[in-house]
Amino acid sequence: MNTLIEHIRLYKNRDAALVCLTAYTTPMAQSIAPHVDLILVGDSVGTVLYGMDDTTGVTLDMMIAHGKAVMRAKPDVPVIVDMPFGSYEESDEHALASAQRAMSETGAHGVKLEGGVDMASRIKMLIDNNIPVMAHIGLQPQSVIKDGGYKIKGRGDAQIEALLEDAKAVEAAGAFAIVIEGTVAEVAERITKAVSIPTIGIGASVACDGQILVIDDLLGAHHGHLPKFAKRYAHLTQDIDAAVKLFAQDVRTRRFPDDAHIYKK
Ligand code: KIV
Repeated sequence: MNTLIEHIRLYKNRDAALVCLTAYTTPMAQSIAPHVDLILVGDSVGTVLYGMDDTTGVTLDMMIAHGKAVMRAKPDVPVIVDMPFGSYEESDEHALASAQRAMSETGAHGVKLEGGVDMASRIKMLIDNNIPVMAHIGLQPQSVIKDGGYKIKGRGDAQIEALLEDAKAVEAAGAFAIVIEGTVAEVAERITKAVSIPTIGIGASVACDGQILVIDDLLGAHHGHLPKFAKRYAHLTQDIDAAVKLFAQDVRTRRFPDDAHIYKK
């Protein structure tokens, strides 16, 4: 397994948690790489950059294009590309063909896919073919239509048991880490204690071995819905509004372009 991926396993039960963020473009990957331990080219690209209602319309070609863009930044941390809806559920063979395309065309270090017990054979198939896999359990955004919305998981004994089974199944299949999304905090903590691989929370628990957020949520860079679990550290839409307002004023009043921004003989 790639040494960058091996390094992620060392974050199990460490005092300092693993820092993960999404990126979809070269400049964003360049900006975040010095501060994070893992970059995810998430299929959240569909909602935050393409204005889609959910991630089910994202294609493998889109993920490959964004994976390539992130890899052009040459980040020295592992880059994981999300397997989009429809690219892996049908069969182990279909999952392998899609993951091989994602890996060979982007040069990324691994893939992520949503699912637990139901996807364990896919995960094993990929790992048997030297493709590192990060699992994703709990709230699974690609199931939004099937689930009838974004539903928090881990409420009630049956769901708790199912989540624990999912975590153990993906661990046994060989996943190198597990994203736990939208899950009651105590349950995410229980899962973290029950498995030997790092858990990465998003709307889960501070007890997870790491945390991940969507970069555009953190930066306040989009006008869409902000989930309760996403903390905003900047307000880029406001900065863009202020900057474009100034530019528009400069153009309308013929203050731009000034001498500093034109070519002379
Ligand atoms: O698509 C995505 O960005 C994700 C997250 C875990 C943030 O899957």
